[in-house]
Amino acid sequence: MAVSAIETQAKPRVVLSARGLRRDFGGFTAVKNVDLDVHDASVHALIGPNGAGKTTVFNLLTKFLQPTAGSITLMGTDITGTPPDKVARMGLVRSFQISAVFPHLSVLDNVRVALQRPNNLSTQFWRPLSALDRLNERAEQLLASVGLSKERDHLAADLSYGRKRVLEIATTLALDPKVLLLDEPMAGMGHEDVGVVSAIIRDVARDRAVLMVEHNLSVVANICQHVTVLQRGEILAEGDYATVSQDERVRVAYMGTEEH
Ligand SMILES: Nc1ncnc2c1ncn2[C@@H]1O[C@H](COP(=O)(O)OP(=O)(O)O)[C@@H](O)[C@H]1O
Ligand SMILES: [Mg+2]
Repeated sequence: MAVSAIETQAKPRVVLSARGLRRDFGGFTAVKNVDLDVHDASVHALIGPNGAGKTTVFNLLTKFLQPTAGSITLMGTDITGTPPDKVARMGLVRSFQISAVFPHLSVLDNVRVALQRPNNLSTQFWRPLSALDRLNERAEQLLASVGLSKERDHLAADLSYGRKRVLEIATTLALDPKVLLLDEPMAGMGHEDVGVVSAIIRDVARDRAVLMVEHNLSVVANICQHVTVLQRGEILAEGDYATVSQDERVRVAYMGTEEH
């Protein structure tokens, strides 16, 4: 399978970065002093105990929440004050929020709908039949890239839980994001699906950045080149998995925390 991005890319560029990110909810500070650099062609994990602030960081990066302080840059452009729909059009896309799986549509039709969403540049009210052919071709390609070709005519509702999540990833990829944010993509999946989705994420990150919240540390060890550990809203450690997992403070932070 894919050679790891670290081996193929000597020095990947930073595509998404945050400096001094902070978010207060009333008197409570959920995220504080967070500096983050997400590199192209890599998978970056955001980990930490429940309540550490991981989802809040995602909401800040995608602009669903406005930071109390700090700044965010996407591919060199300051997006601190940019609305979420614009940020998505610029290529920062979060799965499971923008994407939706329509249970009564076929797998193929779900991807075709995603390819025609308003965020997509190819959208036109009127389009010649040849454009429709191109759309079908692209839909088939996307399904093939996530291993869903065989299920193309199945109703989405009939897919297993894991395959549905894979379809969600395919519909997100229809937007051709430059940075893909995945919040616990393996949650609730069986062992086999975890392997399949891991391979897909690694593949997807060959030409884009993936930032993912993940509780499964063997997944983090296997597919993530960068790891940032959050605790009580602050960065506790960062580096590659080997470095972070040997950090005494990280071990202590995880003690007594139930991991799936
Ligand atoms: N909208 C909100 N209002 C108040 N507190 C919030 C809100 N969103 C998150 N929090 C609090 O911020 C902390 C971090 O939450 P969250 O980002 O969801 O953590 P994680 O995703 O790491 O489990 C938690 O203590 C949570 O209760
Ligand atoms: Mg969360």
